[in-house]
Amino acid sequence: MKKFDTDTVVEEVRRATDIVDVISQYVRLQKRGKNFLGLCPFHSEKTPSFTVNREKGLYHCFGCGVGGNVFTFLTQHDKISFGEALRQLASRANITLPAYSEGKQNEVDEVIDINDKATRYYRDMLHSDEGQSALVYLRQKRQFTDETIDRFLLGYAPDRWDGLLNFLKKKGISESTIEKSGLILKRQDASGYYDRFRSRVMFPIQSAGGTVIAFGGRTLKADESAKYINSPETAVYLKRKTLFGIYQAREAIIEKDSAILVEGYADLVALHQSGIRNAVASSGTALTIDQINYISRYTKNVYLVYDADNAGRDASLRGSDILLEQGMNVYIVELPSGEDPDTFVLSNGAEEFMMLIKNAMNVVEFKAAMLAGRETSGASQIETIQSIVDSLAKVNDAIKVNVLVKDLAQKFGIREDAIYQELKRKSLPGRRTGAPQIDAKSKSPGLTLPPADRDLINLLSNVEDSVFGTIANEIANLEIRNQVSKEIIEGILDARSSGRSASSVLDELSSEEVRQIYAELSFATPQRSKVWWEEIRPGSETPDYSKWISQVLISFELEQIEQGLKIINTRIGEAERKGLTTADFDLQYQELVERKRVLTETYRDKDLRNQYLGSLGNS
Ligand code: CTP
Ligand code: MN
Repeated sequence: MKKFDTDTVVEEVRRATDIVDVISQYVRLQKRGKNFLGLCPFHSEKTPSFTVNREKGLYHCFGCGVGGNVFTFLTQHDKISFGEALRQLASRANITLPAYSEGKQNEVDEVIDINDKATRYYRDMLHSDEGQSALVYLRQKRQFTDETIDRFLLGYAPDRWDGLLNFLKKKGISESTIEKSGLILKRQDASGYYDRFRSRVMFPIQSAGGTVIAFGGRTLKADESAKYINSPETAVYLKRKTLFGIYQAREAIIEKDSAILVEGYADLVALHQSGIRNAVASSGTALTIDQINYISRYTKNVYLVYDADNAGRDASLRGSDILLEQGMNVYIVELPSGEDPDTFVLSNGAEEFMMLIKNAMNVVEFKAAMLAGRETSGASQIETIQSIVDSLAKVNDAIKVNVLVKDLAQKFGIREDAIYQELKRKSLPGRRTGAPQIDAKSKSPGLTLPPADRDLINLLSNVEDSVFGTIANEIANLEIRNQVSKEIIEGILDARSSGRSASSVLDELSSEEVRQIYAELSFATPQRSKVWWEEIRPGSETPDYSKWISQVLISFELEQIEQGLKIINTRIGEAERKGLTTADFDLQYQELVERKRVLTETYRDKDLRNQYLGSLGNS
């Protein structure tokens, strides 16, 4: 990893940053003892194994093995470089970075930088003379307040072929670099480039952390065929993983424990302006599994509010089925005919809208209501029931199924057991029920290290500063054979003895694998029995540091003795085969056996352990 000559700034940013706050932007975390627990954003899982510790400044997933500190979280999750992560966290903490000349940026950083400048350009244009009609459109036609316009970073792409292009070129960015952002296009005759967005109101699309990753633009021209156009996919923009408004909605979704899913940019902005802040928009794509996984990190409850037309109804049907399959609770809202969330909330207000949410339907009710809206012939009624049972077969939660079956039985006057029979038939083997389980096998990269090394690393990354001081020298003198262990332990010694935080060690480690091992081991329960750990762990009522430290150190030495014994044994064997004397080896062997006996006794006896600890400083 790149070494900054601004090491102290990295440390300053780290100290000013709460890793729990940052990760909470992406994952719903709940406090469990000293740790925070949530669903891992790096693999799909149903029970939380993603663990974050504020004091350590580290995270680790016991499911898939990822781990790191706040910088690696952003580089792994948002695919940005270390430099970009540092820049974002510094600005979040109001820390000014000294100007450092970073090497070449990666493509992600380049596109983010261009999007950032473009956002500013479009906003400035909106507030310039040229943007007057766009501003009038937003204020009057769409009824957006200036506060809303600011909050969503709305802007205006002027009616020019090269407005943004020239602006960015003047900033010293090359055309080929700008092209990576998708904001300019190559001319057909290859004579240069032109702006993708022209004469449009601009909706910047932000990541959960607030980075502008793409744009949507609505035309201001009545005769334009494409009402909306969007950025193409880039190094930072994957349509199927994006939810418009997630940055502004995140907190409200967590607080309300529900998300309102709408289709349009304007729908979303109008809802937020009216105070309904847990809304997010799929923005033109049919709802994807990735988007659902994204929401499921914050809440399991989703309200679908699509346009009141056939397309909207179809979208609700399809959407509700994938949501059910992914284990979510789905509620569907039908708007009065001809309305979309934007028009509805503008003419009826937030309270009326919330009434609709309160009266939202579950799938059974929704599908039944659709039937009621059509002509009721016998055939279509059976079709509807079949379609409802299809949906129920996707629900992987017995209680939920129970409630819905009752609903269904009542609505259509059918017996519950008939429905259960049909459900059973539909869920025969071969048919998938419930959420697809792509849970990674429990992965512990740390298991590749010798047990005693693991305990030692765990000890060193957890023990309090005052205690650490008393053993640092002893540890520095240990002969650590495993190269990974050695790298990690030396890193910890180096960081902690120069007053840096334990999580700063991570930036010094040589590879992703070593970083994951370190993060895992600093969380792991040591190798000894659970009882032992509960009894001595920091945070228990009377943490028995001397027991913990002495036993970890003794175990380490015992493991080395075992290895020594093996080596001597081989040598004795070789010597015997060659008919040489084994006396020297025999003596060494006896000495090791004796040391082993003493250590084993010390391990068990409290007084002996304290003596052992007392002798450490003098060795
Ligand atoms: N959309 C799109 N491309 C289009 C049309 C629509 O990407 N050509 C997406 C946009 O995200 C849009 C959403 O689908 O916001 C819903 O489209 P639609 O209902 O047609 O538009 P409204 O949001 O109602 O548009 P407006 O209120 O601005 O007229
Ligand atoms: Mn609309």
